[in-house]
Amino acid sequence: MNSIKSASFIKSSPALSECPEPELPEYAFIGRSNVGKSSLINSITNRKKLAKVSVKPGKTQLINHFLIDNSWYLVDLPGYGWAKVSKTEKAKWKLMINEYLQLRENLQCVFLLIDSRHEPQAIDLEFMRWLGLNEIPFVIVFTKTDKLGKVNLQKSLDHYREVLRLEWDELPVQFQTSSISGEGKDQLLEYVRQINGG
Ligand code: GTP
Ligand code: MG
Repeated sequence: MNSIKSASFIKSSPALSECPEPELPEYAFIGRSNVGKSSLINSITNRKKLAKVSVKPGKTQLINHFLIDNSWYLVDLPGYGWAKVSKTEKAKWKLMINEYLQLRENLQCVFLLIDSRHEPQAIDLEFMRWLGLNEIPFVIVFTKTDKLGKVNLQKSLDHYREVLRLEWDELPVQFQTSSISGEGKDQLLEYVRQINGG
């Protein structure tokens, strides 16, 4: 069994320099605002209120560290692509996130969350390109699969992969998840465990 035994909030950091010592393997959740990052963290850890969830986009604004089973960190990052955010705010986000992603030495893999219902969005495709250029390992996590029927889900994800193939020779590892049904939880944890070394 893969379930998590303990999960606790460590701290919220406004910059890389304030993050916990990089002494444990770390995995970061990122993606558009409202894609379901915080919800998935709660679902994975079986804790309803570990990460803050909101119907209003932009709930998560800092780099949030959660310690899992005293052996690795799960990080909830603020979402991007929030229309109502000012240029200054966007620039601040970019600076904080880029610094974190490029320089966080214990970062093993970025989990890029994508809403399984939506057409591929330029902002996500661009972000993947940036990760690729910077050689930052990432996987794609399709979220909210409970919101689509089986057939439509398959159609939507097939279409997403087709678009990805236009620019990627090799597609990144992908997961299908739902914070409501719990789909994909075990697979995600298994993936982390493998990287952590069993
Ligand atoms: P920011 O912190 O603003 O970047 O958002 P986030 O990506 O952390 O999203 P959050 O987890 O706060 O969820 C946004 C909304 O989507 C909330 O209303 C959630 O209840 C809903 N939601 C998240 N995951 C799922 C899911 O798997 N299924 C369904 N049906 N709803 C979900
Ligand atoms: Mg959030």
